[in-house]
Amino acid sequence: MTTIEISADQLARLRAETPGVGNVVHFNNAGAALSPNVVVETTVAHLQREAAIGGYEAAAEASQRLDAVYDSLARLLGARSDQMAVIENATRAWDMAVYGYPFQPGDRVLTGRAEYVSNIIGLLQLEKRFGLQVVIIDDDEHGQIDVAQLERELADGAAMVALTHVPTNGGLVNPAAEVGELCRRHDTFYVLDACQSAGQVPLDVDEIGCDVLSGTGRKYLRGPRGTGFLFVNDRAIERIEPPFLDLHAAEWVDEREYRVRDDARRFENWETNYAGKLGLGAAVDYALDVGVEVSSARLCALADDLRFGLDSLAGVSVHDKGQRRGGIVTFKVDGVEASTVQQHLAASDMNVSISPPGHARLDLPHRGLPALVRASVHYYNDSDEVERFLSAIEAVVVR
Ligand SMILES: Cc1ncc(COP(=O)(O)O)c(C=O)c1O
Repeated sequence: MTTIEISADQLARLRAETPGVGNVVHFNNAGAALSPNVVVETTVAHLQREAAIGGYEAAAEASQRLDAVYDSLARLLGARSDQMAVIENATRAWDMAVYGYPFQPGDRVLTGRAEYVSNIIGLLQLEKRFGLQVVIIDDDEHGQIDVAQLERELADGAAMVALTHVPTNGGLVNPAAEVGELCRRHDTFYVLDACQSAGQVPLDVDEIGCDVLSGTGRKYLRGPRGTGFLFVNDRAIERIEPPFLDLHAAEWVDEREYRVRDDARRFENWETNYAGKLGLGAAVDYALDVGVEVSSARLCALADDLRFGLDSLAGVSVHDKGQRRGGIVTFKVDGVEASTVQQHLAASDMNVSISPPGHARLDLPHRGLPALVRASVHYYNDSDEVERFLSAIEAVVVR
């Protein structure tokens, strides 16, 4: 397949549609990306409509556009619209599926060192509550999940594999489809946290072979905060009754009876942020319009340039793992705390965030690493920003 590059003209247009690039060098896309104009306009326009004619009335007026949000998400993931739910964030989306899973005492859940902090907290709570056994699969020599060990553990029996595709604290892109193939072979339920990977790398749920996939709006999809989504396949719908139900997720059919709806919206709440939902739809349409394949190639190349530049600076070390790497670059400056580096950068209007060990206890302490600086680039960033960033880091290095 030929990957067509984003041309200089197209990049100029994409940056013009992202006014935030005029204010900051935004390398905190793994936190929340800068939204393009259309996302802000769509969200604000709906809020204005709510104020003008009433919230319920505005939702009724926008009902077709609201339905189209599911179509957009389905296109992003190669899924069907009825397999998509819109939920307030990735964590709650993941929770709704995992907390609702019909575990039996002693069931084993296999996960990796890259698993997201909130997912691990959730699994530990389920371990305490239902006697699950959470088994950590080690990294292989590249720092990605060791699929050989995973296969051995699957052969011993497991109820679920929970994998984070791209961790919060590094450039690693886990081999999600290889894991999916193993889960298929061992008939094991597969939950993929695609919170960082949605919009960062192309996703196709059939290719990956996951039963459940959770994602968020504000990161690489460039949507509004407080938006997220869940994909569930037919087997997930059959197996999982959500831990919380309301009048949207279920119907009160008799005085003492309810019936859960039979599509993915069983995982949603009745009350929701309609403006955010429309904004999420606009963000997904924008991502599809740019093309995830080309935008991913561009942001990965920018991240590689940044890694190379940082690695070339004396006193700076890059700590991203994995055979395949994406847009998140983590590093440390010898003798300078990550938070101090962040403050120096902020003084020059450069945004990064910090990955503290407490958010990655199965990884950073395991590698003997302290808090790292996390610089996460997107396709709308450019080489000039990378150069300016490298100069700013050079100025922070203790000589
Ligand atoms: C890998 C990963 N999973 C899940 C989440 C949680 O996403 P949300 O804040 O939308 O719940 C994050 C957030 O940083 C993340 O990096």
